[in-house]
Amino acid sequence: MVSYKELGLVNTKEMFAKAIKGGYAIPAFNFNNMEQLQAIIKASVETKSPVILQVSKGARNYANQTLLRYMAEGAVQYAKELGCENPQIVLHLDHGDSFELCKSCVDLGFSSVMIDGSHLPYEENVALTKKVVDYAHQYDVTVEGELGVLAGVEDEVCAEHHTYTNPEEVIDFSTRTGCDSLAISIGTSHGAYKFKPEQCHVDPATGRLVPPPLAFDVLDAVMEKLPGFPIVLHGSSSVPQEYVEMINKYGGNLEAAIGIPEDELRKAAKSAVCKINIDSDSRLAMTAAIRKVFAEKPAEFDPRKYLGPARDEMEKLYKHKILNVLGSNDKL
Ligand code: G3H
Ligand code: 13P
Ligand code: ZN
Repeated sequence: MVSYKELGLVNTKEMFAKAIKGGYAIPAFNFNNMEQLQAIIKASVETKSPVILQVSKGARNYANQTLLRYMAEGAVQYAKELGCENPQIVLHLDHGDSFELCKSCVDLGFSSVMIDGSHLPYEENVALTKKVVDYAHQYDVTVEGELGVLAGVEDEVCAEHHTYTNPEEVIDFSTRTGCDSLAISIGTSHGAYKFKPEQCHVDPATGRLVPPPLAFDVLDAVMEKLPGFPIVLHGSSSVPQEYVEMINKYGGNLEAAIGIPEDELRKAAKSAVCKINIDSDSRLAMTAAIRKVFAEKPAEFDPRKYLGPARDEMEKLYKHKILNVLGSNDKL
């Protein structure tokens, strides 16, 4: 049993309370490798932002859960080396799908876990979430639950159609489970294809597709039922068209990739939404930068020569999210 406190990590409690009060949201960035982690830490230190490092089931399978945990411990030291005296870094399990998995992350030194029972019948979701909360709280580890189903692919959980969160359930769910934050469904979804072109309209100024708005009425109703309770938005990548165009220009083939407009995320960040999950945008930034090097310098074969530019591009992206979308800068 390792306590996250010994690793210099923090849980989400104080971080979320401050974010709600201050009208900003904490970035929750997924990481699978060293370059992503370096870029996240550099961006958060240089902007003085708290940050949540997320590990998905896919990341654990790809990079190994133990190695990722040690990387997060290293990230705390790296942040200090970069000049941050008091880094506020959470190591969070993204989309935990069983009690055993959540327990193993708590035991390994994670400071926060998500138990995603959103696809289960309501009573089963309550029971599973409560079981995880009861275990995690013994060690001061915070727990995110989820109500409502997002469209698209959720790690290994797949939902063809979304179901918005039912605001009538949130008081019962949060009271009976004791969860510390709640992920809700208001029209965001995972991946780079969040909307079908036929759901969008064309912006005459840019010629680009504009998706339908998020269901802010559902968010408002949830906030009315649970004043001041931390709300989480998954599937919040914006799918920057610059990256999509760059990927396609250098040999990729992404068609009609559409994300959440940043204006909508800015609006959400000012509300009780205090954690915003972003993964796909980082993948797009990395892929665009690597493709550019491969196309322009076909003789290059030193991985540092293409992973380095990819890391720089991700750092730029993370800083942009912190400074221009979530507003979590200058909080350390
Ligand atoms: O919620 C999904 C995250 O983007 C993680 O995706 O399972 O491919 O690592 P992944
Ligand atoms: P995106 O696919 O929109 O980046 O969402 C990531 C996410 O919700 C991770 O849990
Ligand atoms: Zn998610």
